[in-house]
Amino acid sequence: IPTEIKRICCIGAGYVGGPTMAMIAHKCPQIDVTVVDINPQRIAQWNSDELPIYEPGLDEIVKEARGRNLSFSTNVDQGIDQAEMVFISVNTPTKTFGVGAGRAANLEYVEKCARQIARVSTGHKIVVEKSTLPVRTAEAVKRILSSGETKASFQVLSNPEFLAEGTAIDDLLAPDRVLIGGECANAIESLVNIYANWVPRERLLTTNLWSSELSKLTANAFLAQRVSSINAISALCEATEADVDEVARAIGTDSRIGPKFLKSSVGFGGSCFQKDILNLVYLCEYFGLPEVANYWEQVVAMNDYQKRRFVTRILRTMFNTVSDKKIGIWGFAFKKDTNDTRESAAIYVCRDLLLEKARLDIYDPKVPQDQIKRDLMWALTDQGAMSSEQAQAAIEENVRFADGCLPSATDAHAIAVLTEWDEFADVDFQAVHQVMKKPAFVFDGRNVLKDMDLRQLGFDYYGIGF
Ligand code: UDX
Ligand code: UDX
Ligand code: ADP
Repeated sequence: IPTEIKRICCIGAGYVGGPTMAMIAHKCPQIDVTVVDINPQRIAQWNSDELPIYEPGLDEIVKEARGRNLSFSTNVDQGIDQAEMVFISVNTPTKTFGVGAGRAANLEYVEKCARQIARVSTGHKIVVEKSTLPVRTAEAVKRILSSGETKASFQVLSNPEFLAEGTAIDDLLAPDRVLIGGECANAIESLVNIYANWVPRERLLTTNLWSSELSKLTANAFLAQRVSSINAISALCEATEADVDEVARAIGTDSRIGPKFLKSSVGFGGSCFQKDILNLVYLCEYFGLPEVANYWEQVVAMNDYQKRRFVTRILRTMFNTVSDKKIGIWGFAFKKDTNDTRESAAIYVCRDLLLEKARLDIYDPKVPQDQIKRDLMWALTDQGAMSSEQAQAAIEENVRFADGCLPSATDAHAIAVLTEWDEFADVDFQAVHQVMKKPAFVFDGRNVLKDMDLRQLGFDYYGIGF
């Protein structure tokens, strides 16, 4: 096995595969990096000036490396064939059907990749799991790779990605650590050598395969657990006149607790937290550990409660009805600096408001309208809440899109802030107050307007946890 890799292929050009490979190409000009995907539209976007994902700093890195040692292609077979190391970076959504529906990871795409690698490969290849996978998935990947059909030999590594959206480039440039799990020292060394081009050696952690797979699920479960814990306390704060941000600051100074990830909010979203915890829950059940499963499941239950609680507070405060009232929705992405809406709290909040027959005027600086419509369509029809025709009609009748905060607030009875976009703090709130109906309610699901003296300006201002 060579420990100096010259050609890499990554299967899957998504939020993980795209930025990660762009960074490797950027930092390792001696390595040829090809990112392949079955979705021709995605690949076309990666090859254009309009990249498929918005991520600060990504454009520059892609433009610099593209055409030199970074390419995007739909030719998956060729990509695999030419590479010495193949990353699997395809999506692993929660299963929606059959055994483990709603919890277990759907490994269909990973398995298809493994089969394709086995079929196409000759000689020796290192296969790297980049997608977040249930612990022991590498076992399945290994078995598929070594099943009768192949002419090649393989080593499997686990190299989970810890980047967060919105800060992907910074996270990739200076990761807290890079985790590499494997069984073969040479294979591990070859991947260590790639990262060592820019990551200090002491941050390159190597473990066995199973610890690496499990660490990714555990990291996300712990992070989400912190948000659910502080959100649980936010409910108690609202009942007791304590202030959750003061509590967070007070506990965060304890070095054993630490200050990060204690921001109370309308609820965590994103493609990873819920999916990975449910996956962990399923694994615990599978291995006969119901107590452990129940413990972690509460993190998701608390998050669902927090989203519901936000809508309930809006309703109660607005005299128990929002029917036919216009509500300006500020922010739809699951966090700032991304155009990603997967599992965004905004989807659930907007759904519940639409079910209460509110009229929404949505503004998000980065999320396209079509995406928001698709998300709401899914949410309204999920579990048969509405038929497709009803949902379509509800959206057409009650959802509008604004191109800024002020238009979204015009004639509105309330504003709901659902993403912490920086620009919301630069808004002229005097002007906002003028164009709104009175009383002018503001429900700040991110506590980003807390220092703006909105009450002084005449707003009825409510945040989370105070
Ligand atoms: C705790 C708090 O740390 C302290 O801030 C508060 O004022 C009083 O309660 P104490 O109970 O004295 O202090 O000890 P602590 O070090 O927190 O340990 C509590 C228990 O947790 C011990 O049984 C300890 O063995 C256990 N523990 C602690 C673990 O099992 N694992 C750990 O990683 C840390
Ligand atoms: C997360 C992990 O951070 C990352 O390491 C992993 O690779 C993928 O999953 P991501 O989902 O992109 O990254 O964003 P993150 O910053 O973790 O935020 C997740 C959600 O939690 C967001 O909705 C965010 O708004 C929310 N959050 C985060 C809070 O509500 N409060 C906090 O204090 C932190
Ligand atoms: P993540 O956030 O994990 O990166 P995404 O959904 O953004 O997930 O990206 C996963 C990508 O993987 C998608 O663009 C999808 O088209 C691609 N993909 C899924 N299965 C395959 C496959 N068998 N071969 C090639 N690409 C695939």
